[in-house]
Order: sequence, then C-alpha cells, then structure tokens
Amino acid sequence: TDGVARTVAAFERGEPVLVHDAADREGETDLVYPAGSVTPEAVARMRNDAGGLVCVALSDAVCAALDLPFVQEVIDHPVGADHELGYDERSSFSLTVNHRETYTGITDEDRSLTITELARAAADPDAAEFAETFRAPGHVHLLRAAPNLVADREGHTELGLVLAEAAGLPPAVVVCEMLDDRTGRALSPDDARAYAERNGFEYVEGSDVVRQLG
Ligand code: 5RP
Ligand code: CA
Ligand code: ZN
Repeated sequence: TDGVARTVAAFERGEPVLVHDAADREGETDLVYPAGSVTPEAVARMRNDAGGLVCVALSDAVCAALDLPFVQEVIDHPVGADHELGYDERSSFSLTVNHRETYTGITDEDRSLTITELARAAADPDAAEFAETFRAPGHVHLLRAAPNLVADREGHTELGLVLAEAAGLPPAVVVCEMLDDRTGRALSPDDARAYAERNGFEYVEGSDVVRQLG
C-alpha cells in the first residue's frame, strides 16, 4: 500500500500521523491526531515532541453550526492590511476554548478533555450546546477550515480534515507543529520523517494527500 492509504488506516486506528504541507507554503510538519482519540499522553507528546501550538481544526459546517468566527474578522484591520500572511490568503484561527469541566485548562488532562469533547460536538453539531459546554478564552486554539477543504486551501487545517473524512471520522482533528529543539525553527522534513520512523508513525506530503484524496 502507498503512504496516503497507510496514513488513512493509521488515522482510522486513532494513531497520530505527520503531515508536511509544502516547501513553498509554511514548510512545516504537523503532528496530527483524530480529536476523538486524544488522551493526556497524546497532549504530552504534542508539547514535548512537537512543541508548537495545540489546535483543533473543525470543518466550516461545524463552525457555522457552532457560530465560531475567524479571529481575523473580529479585529478591525485597516483596509488592505488584513491579508498579510506570507504563505496563504488567510489564517484559519478561530477562538480559544476550554471545556467547562476543566480548572486552568492547560494541563494534559484538561486539554485532553477539551479536545475530546470538541470531537463529540463536531460529530453532532446541531445537538451541541457550544457556549454551555465550552468557555472562551481557553487553552485550545480552534481552526476553521475552508468550506471545500483542500480544493480551497491546502493548510494543515484542511489536510487534517481530509484525512478524517477519508477515515470516516468526525470533522475534528488536532494539529501541532513540529519544531526543532536545536534551532527553534520548523523541524526539517528529513528530521520529521526520521521521527515518524522512530515512533512507528506515518509521514505524508500534503501534495500526495491533495492528489489522492482532494
Ligand atoms: C496553528 C497554525 C498551524 O500552521 C496549523 O498547521 C494550522 O494552520 P494552517 O492550516 O495554515 O497550516 O498556524 O498553529
Ligand atoms: Ca521538545
Ligand atoms: Zn500549518
């Protein structure tokens, strides 16, 4: 089997996978989990091994049902200054949240609860009582995907959700950037691939995900 099929199969089993977007985009590899499979140990792996921001990507439909905005649109940017990312048309950042049954929200247990409950809300967004279940601000960043996923935007937000869709999982995935502890920069694709091999995880290129599942 090829790498994309193996990655989808790993995702179906609830395992993390590594996804590199593209050298001419962020040039980053994210550690990605189905949100419903996250445990406190998974949160510890994200902060220790990945080191970036722990974010939950949700589909546009789920975000619309839950009334989740783009933060970019909440701030009144000067005309023409709202699309200043070097690598894409817009940021996918929405609010930060904690589940209401957390204390500070930052511990591995707290973030794991917030993340798994977000997966539950994404599985049935019309039944979810968002503001009664979560509070904002919190310690898990939400990302709102483009409506047509990788047909619209090829970020980790959309790449992760394409994998969830192919695996038959709810549209909620956790992404966290792999940073290099020596340089402080994005972990190189070679080093991300070596990390995946050491840990028995799949590594895929975003371009292969787009080609085969987009
Ligand atoms: C949040 C980010 C990451 O790059 C994450 O991968 C989501 O963003 P994108 O969809 O633009 O890749 O900015 O930590
Ligand atoms: Ca580290
Ligand atoms: Zn990214």
